[in-house]
Amino acid sequence: MINGDAVMDKVFIEKLNEVAKRVNEFLDNRVAMQDNLQKVIYEAMRYSLLAGGKRIRPVLAIKSAEILGVSEKDVMPFACAIEMIHTYSLIHDDLPAMDNDDYRRGRLSCHKKFDEATAILAGDALLTMAFEVAAEGAERVENKSGGIMAIKDIAYCAGTEGMIGGQVVDLDAETRKISEEELRYLCRRKTGALLRVPVMVATDVAGKAKTKEAEYLLEYADTVGLAFQIKDDILDVEGDIAVLGKPIGSDAQEGKTTFVTLFGIEESKKILDELTQKALIACDNLEKLCDTQIQKDACGFFKELARFLLERNY
Ligand code: IPE
Ligand code: IPE
Ligand code: MG
Ligand code: MG
Ligand code: MG
Repeated sequence: MINGDAVMDKVFIEKLNEVAKRVNEFLDNRVAMQDNLQKVIYEAMRYSLLAGGKRIRPVLAIKSAEILGVSEKDVMPFACAIEMIHTYSLIHDDLPAMDNDDYRRGRLSCHKKFDEATAILAGDALLTMAFEVAAEGAERVENKSGGIMAIKDIAYCAGTEGMIGGQVVDLDAETRKISEEELRYLCRRKTGALLRVPVMVATDVAGKAKTKEAEYLLEYADTVGLAFQIKDDILDVEGDIAVLGKPIGSDAQEGKTTFVTLFGIEESKKILDELTQKALIACDNLEKLCDTQIQKDACGFFKELARFLLERNY
């Protein structure tokens, strides 16, 4: 959930938080505490999952669903499965073997609060349970083949050609200076894939994967996805840990090639601006295909989201 004091556009933050609140409720209920011998795993999963987080990925799925005529109830399990996978990726990303970061989402990272073994298992458990949740989602939707497609897309985007693939290249970027092309390849996977798949699950369930709407939505998600990582790289240099909720200087400490090391801060900001403009154009094109006010409002929301992600300081 986002702290409205830290940013300018309070009305938008309220809109974002309203959706995030329903996401949090679903996650809180579905990843419930259990009183058994292995209860520490539930504690660790809930510790990281319910620690805040902007919930951008589930929000993308829910708002895409609004545009495509899918109910929030039908898309919610897929949206939350993606957030569970995202949280697992952060738990593992913070481990000493990877980025070795002690803070996440404004609190100690999972391995610092618990221990490394518990953090590894909590990540594994979130990943596994995400597919249970997604399968429950597929069971309840009318478009069963769309539900199965959504599960398949989540697996693909989380896997070796998606987020995991990006993390592998990211580790490589610590040992050598990678090229711009390789950096874009890395970003498309490590961050882009989990920001693209929320749109994919919505188009799958809607049975609209091959439509013009899907094309513009994916263009928006891909553009915002790259911009998101560039902003993350900038915040790693000029962010404020108290607002950001995670350490700054982590990339430099690991000697990582990022947009900032390759282009410098100013040029990175320019690229970020250009990408945001491109995302706004995708929204305009999408809006032209929309008939209802609900759909048009969702396009407006996406525009505001692109601007918010450009200006965010957390
Ligand atoms: C952080 O993601 C990791 C990246 C992919 C850059 P977010 O900035 O979405 O983190 P939370 O979910 O809000 O904590
Ligand atoms: C992490 O990228 C992306 C994933 C966890 C897949 P970063 O390592 O840049 O994310 P932060 O800065 O730790 O949130
Ligand atoms: Mg990392
Ligand atoms: Mg990291
Ligand atoms: Mg980072």
